[in-house]
Amino acid sequence: MPINAGVIVFKDSQELARGATGYILSAIVQTLSRQDRFSLVLSGGSTPRAIYTLLGQPPQAGQVPWSRVHFFWGDERCVPPEHGDSNYLMAYETLLARLALPAQNIHRIQGEVPPDESAASYERALMEFFEKENGLPHFDLVLLGMGDDGHIASLFPDSPALGETDRWVVAVEHTLPPAPLVSRITMTFPLLNAARRIALIVSGAAKAGLVHRVLSGSGEAPRLPVQRVNPEEGELTWLLDEAAAK
Ligand code: 6PG
Repeated sequence: MPINAGVIVFKDSQELARGATGYILSAIVQTLSRQDRFSLVLSGGSTPRAIYTLLGQPPQAGQVPWSRVHFFWGDERCVPPEHGDSNYLMAYETLLARLALPAQNIHRIQGEVPPDESAASYERALMEFFEKENGLPHFDLVLLGMGDDGHIASLFPDSPALGETDRWVVAVEHTLPPAPLVSRITMTFPLLNAARRIALIVSGAAKAGLVHRVLSGSGEAPRLPVQRVNPEEGELTWLLDEAAAK
């Protein structure tokens, strides 16, 4: 486990949602006291739903000048933004629609265009936003979940994308049976690990074995994607409920 990782355990999934919301809000408020904008990378899946819902509700929502917060996605399914599987749609419905954000603050991955084109255009959009010709951009906070196979974002075990060292965003093919093969767009480890903060938010007993294996640092080679989450200079914090931390 990376040496600069912290672990915070909450009683149950509700407390985890509240705790993660507090973690996100304090990161935003602290950062905006010393810089003009905050770049937040959202995760998809089901765990973050409760967090995004809380973030968008008073009194939390009133604590942040949201027009200075820019939203990105760590991954997206290659579906249109109105599709039920869209990570963008989940975040929009639970959070973004309530914040009256300027449109330019929402940096959506275009799931509706051909995957390779979408990955390339997202990478260009990131370069423009961070005005980076060379060198990696540093997101202020990246939210990640962990699949019960140890995937993070759409970086799945044994995927060639795990070894990507140059590109920031790639298209991958993946099937989670019985679902059909779905293309996805995902940020890669060089980009994710350049973040100033990464929060790995994991809930439920089904993932406890994997959490233990990773946090106990059993010395094995970092084989699972989640074991490659290791911010170079940033801080990694695991936010768990007791069931996942058992
Ligand atoms: C996605 C997510 C994915 C998710 C994990 C955990 O697009 O599905 O980005 O990486 O974080 O699958 O999902 P849960 O939090 O729903 O268990």
